[in-house]
Amino acid sequence: MIKRPDGTADLLPDDLAQWNRVERTVREVFGRYGYLEVRPPLFENTNLFYKSTGETTDIVEKEMFTVPPRGETSDSYTFRPELTPGAIRALIEAKSFAQQAFWKVFYWGSAFRYERPQKGRLRQFTQFGVEALGSEEPLIDVETIAVFAEILKLCGVTRYDVRINTIGCAACRGAFREKLKGILGPQIATFCENCRKRLDRNVFRILDCKIDAEKTAALPPITENVCEACKAHFAAVQAGLTNSGVAFSVDPRIVRGLDYYTRTVYEISSPDLGSQSALGGGGRYDGLVESMGGPKVGGVGFAAGVERVLIALDAAKVAASPAALPDFYAIAATPDARAALFSIVQALRAKGLSGDLDFEGRSVKAQFRSANRSGARFAVVVGGEELAKQVVKVKNMADGAEQAVPVEEAAALIARGRTTS
Ligand code: HAM
Repeated sequence: MIKRPDGTADLLPDDLAQWNRVERTVREVFGRYGYLEVRPPLFENTNLFYKSTGETTDIVEKEMFTVPPRGETSDSYTFRPELTPGAIRALIEAKSFAQQAFWKVFYWGSAFRYERPQKGRLRQFTQFGVEALGSEEPLIDVETIAVFAEILKLCGVTRYDVRINTIGCAACRGAFREKLKGILGPQIATFCENCRKRLDRNVFRILDCKIDAEKTAALPPITENVCEACKAHFAAVQAGLTNSGVAFSVDPRIVRGLDYYTRTVYEISSPDLGSQSALGGGGRYDGLVESMGGPKVGGVGFAAGVERVLIALDAAKVAASPAALPDFYAIAATPDARAALFSIVQALRAKGLSGDLDFEGRSVKAQFRSANRSGARFAVVVGGEELAKQVVKVKNMADGAEQAVPVEEAAALIARGRTTS
């Protein structure tokens, strides 16, 4: 038997009850906050990720699912490792910024990263998130965090923490980068292999290295080394979060693993997730939209991992919403009534009722067992006698009461039963 690939998951009906509840909550909350859905394709031109996610990131260097060019005219394509670049590209390509300068969009969809699979870390996973494009206001940073926290709360994730940081802007990051290189350069031989590689390529990532955490703790915090404008922005974000009642802490070690961030960065983690503790993360990316061919506007957003939210819900023992019970289960009292029964079932479904019938040629007794197991409120029984009289027998499963009525009337009776129960 060929099994599913490592790092993928099958979602079976039992899993999907909780999954769909989360998806409904996410859509409801994003809608209430005024975010509109976008749905870019699953794969994009590979260069899109080089230019936005960043050439020196782990994602682009090691984790992309890339399909090389086929023939001379074709491009290289990559299954999206994140949805931010595709969402922004889609708006730029549709000339959306000519219609309005400010956009709030959300997405829900698969992402792909060739990582070593473990609990909470998959090769195909699902992200939901938002991008707010066209504003440099700190309040929109606050809103993206607040909407994320509200979703978690409404889903039933009770244990999570919000950590925020600022990583400066194009104007002040260069100086801090040089300062860090100056301090770290002479001692870099004592750091892990990853840090050694990052000294020249992306020195900020050394700050969030878990292996060398003790050594980096002594480094000057980035929050005190950004320019006055960045400090003011960060102060306003903190004030906004406090005013909106979102609990948070400042963590100068958060730098995020993607290249496009400026100023505010944040992560929301859960203690119930183990080593892959981030439920989601995001931040501001002023400069990204312009670098992708769009207008010179600020942007901010986050993405969360659906599979990780579900693990947190499991830990919190949140029950999935029970599936709605069917209105009826149809039973053929004689084998030759099956074809007519199927037409009757179709007529009832066409009236908006939900119900099913047996497709395994089972005995009447076994069909009644299925009716019981399905939780249906009514059994609809059809045999030779009913066919001759052009009626169906409707049996109330709760009290056993039966009446023989034409199909039209049966539909009304079953629908009434639904509204009164
Ligand atoms: P990210 O931190 O790379 O950010 O991913 C966001 C979330 O996706 C993570 O916190 C995690 O919950 C989930 N995730 C990432 N990789 C995996 C994986 N291999 N398996 C399961 N879940 C995973 C971004 O993707 C940015 N686009 C967020 C953003 C939006 N920044 C601004 N706008």
